[in-house]
Amino acid sequence: MHIRIRLHTYPSGNDAAPAREITEKTTTRKRMFLQKINLLNFKNYEELTVKFSEDINCIVGPNGSGKTSLLDAIHYLCLTKSALSVLDGQNIKHHGEFFLIDGTFLEEGKKHQITISLKAGGRKVVMHDKKAYEKISEHIGRYPVVLIAPDDTDLVRDSGETRRKFFDNMLSQVDHAYLDNLIGYNNVLKQRNSLLKQFFERHYFDKELLETYNVQLLPLGDLIHRQRAGFMREFVPVFRQHYGFLSESREEVDLIYESEVFEENFQYEFSYATRRDLQLQRTTKGVHKDDFVFEIDRFALRKFGSQGQQKSFVIALKLAQFDVIRQATGKKPLLLLDDIFDKLDDMRINKLLEMISYDTFGQLFITDARPERTRQLLGQLSGEILFHKT
Ligand SMILES: Nc1ncnc2c1ncn2[C@@H]1O[C@H](COP(=O)(O)OP(=O)(O)OP(=O)(O)O)[C@@H](O)[C@H]1O
Ligand SMILES: [Mg+2]
Repeated sequence: MHIRIRLHTYPSGNDAAPAREITEKTTTRKRMFLQKINLLNFKNYEELTVKFSEDINCIVGPNGSGKTSLLDAIHYLCLTKSALSVLDGQNIKHHGEFFLIDGTFLEEGKKHQITISLKAGGRKVVMHDKKAYEKISEHIGRYPVVLIAPDDTDLVRDSGETRRKFFDNMLSQVDHAYLDNLIGYNNVLKQRNSLLKQFFERHYFDKELLETYNVQLLPLGDLIHRQRAGFMREFVPVFRQHYGFLSESREEVDLIYESEVFEENFQYEFSYATRRDLQLQRTTKGVHKDDFVFEIDRFALRKFGSQGQQKSFVIALKLAQFDVIRQATGKKPLLLLDDIFDKLDDMRINKLLEMISYDTFGQLFITDARPERTRQLLGQLSGEILFHKT
């Protein structure tokens, strides 16, 4: 059985504070932006060089011209992975042998060069100022990024894995120790699972050997669990404020961290599950089974939320992600807005524009297949707006 923690239950609504007040809590402000990007053989781009504005960048072009691919290259540069393709190799241009992404960031007057390259069938190399990282994970969190693609209600509809990835990705950007624990946990989990497979295939069982993995897995799982629970306590109120601001609605939204690890006798349950683990050849209990449940008026958002409510929920999650990363790192994450003008209704677009005009965000990248619409919508804003045609 999963134990649920309901972290906050007060209603949100029209009286929710505007999102600008949430972000103003941050005191430190480090200006960080992407000045330039070069691509070689990345997705549909054979070769591309773009210089960006430190304020607003509009990436415009017809369908299939490479707008999302350019956003994804920026995402890759910040997080060393695509927001879309699960397999790194899929980002190499068809029939190509490698891809290369090279970006120049300016941070407090200093330039930094990030170069990421991947050869087909080879290992990914990530360099910071021409020096390869020993561990690629060291790069995560240095150049924070948030992507909002309003079509992306996968987060609501998919399995727990998608939601876990979302929260893991966010926690990793705000807390390096979390990422280290997660990498450690996943490594031990992989080894434990292959041992279970080996036992099954070779018809034997070595309790002591399995125990050597258990004693590594359980404490790491416990740490991850505490970090997730602690993080949610901060995240949920920020999320609820954004939801109230965006939707102007009175419905109560909730975000519940569900985990078996909350159970007092979890250690016992874990060892009791050994027989099942052996049959299924995988570890059936632990933080890799946690989920984050989305609710609206106490019902599952996935089943009972309208499309608009689901979109607002996802955007509020992403805006809250922006805030917590900003608060933790003191840097405004790059914000990638993919197709928002196409997919959102006027009310939500106006809310986002309101936030942009309050100077809530740092560097912005907005894609649109209809440049005239973007020009009109962004017309009243101050700051530099650059248009890039794909
Ligand atoms: N590895 C790859 N090699 C070559 N082309 C690719 C690769 N991956 C994706 N593409 C192609 O890149 C093109 C650009 O896709 P992208 O999603 O960036 O378009 P878009 O401008 O965002 O379009 P839309 O307006 O429909 O969202 C598509 O034709 C896609 O099939
Ligand atoms: Mg696109």
